[in-house]
Amino acid sequence: RELHDSLAQSLTYLKIQASRLQSIFEHEREKAADNTPELELVVNDLRDNLNIAYRQLRELMTTFRLTVNGESFQQAIEDSVREFEKRIRIAFELDNRLGNDELTIDEEMQVLHIVREALSNIVRHSHAKRARVRLHHHDGNNICISIKDDGVGIDTTQKRDQHLGLIVMQERSRNLDGNFSVQESEGGGTEIQVSFTPKKIAMPV
Ligand SMILES: Nc1ncnc2c1ncn2[C@@H]1O[C@H](COP(=O)(O)OP(=O)(O)O)[C@@H](O)[C@H]1O
Ligand SMILES: [Mg+2]
Repeated sequence: RELHDSLAQSLTYLKIQASRLQSIFEHEREKAADNTPELELVVNDLRDNLNIAYRQLRELMTTFRLTVNGESFQQAIEDSVREFEKRIRIAFELDNRLGNDELTIDEEMQVLHIVREALSNIVRHSHAKRARVRLHHHDGNNICISIKDDGVGIDTTQKRDQHLGLIVMQERSRNLDGNFSVQESEGGGTEIQVSFTPKKIAMPV
């Protein structure tokens, strides 16, 4: 419901930008004026927002598939790891110690999307040989999720205006009332960690 709204909003905005682009082109043809800076701004903006819309659509599809197929959360995590594994020669290990029904549906979705974004980053950026996804209990009440690779590592000082993956992961962790961290893993690769207290433990029925 939330996602549908933001997707619709992104696409509406794209439509407006597209028609702006069209009128700039028309104007340019008439006057033969040099509008390239403005044109470039609009085109960049269009591209950024298309990326956002595309990302949201992908998440929606994942959520939809999960809900419609009635697939369990455990299976969805497993399927995600295998799906990304197919794309590249990285040895993925999955160590999921969570039982069924520990998380609410919303928590399951947040965790699933965090794991999928981290996997997608490993595939696209890490040049890793090995990667590991862990979902563990920690300190009794907490759940700790770690996605770790032995790749080139991540420059955490770098500014990332156009890159939303890590920002969205952080936002999702906040939705879980959890902690989010990006660290260098022992081998010099990257480790994403999210820990949170599941609602079912925080507020037992
Ligand atoms: N596992 C990783 N290994 C190496 N670099 C990474 C990893 N994850 C993310 N990065 C770096 O951090 C940047 C930001 O990631 P992200 O916010 O997901 O944006 P995007 O994937 O769209 O570039 C990436 O462009 C990449 O340079
Ligand atoms: Mg990314």
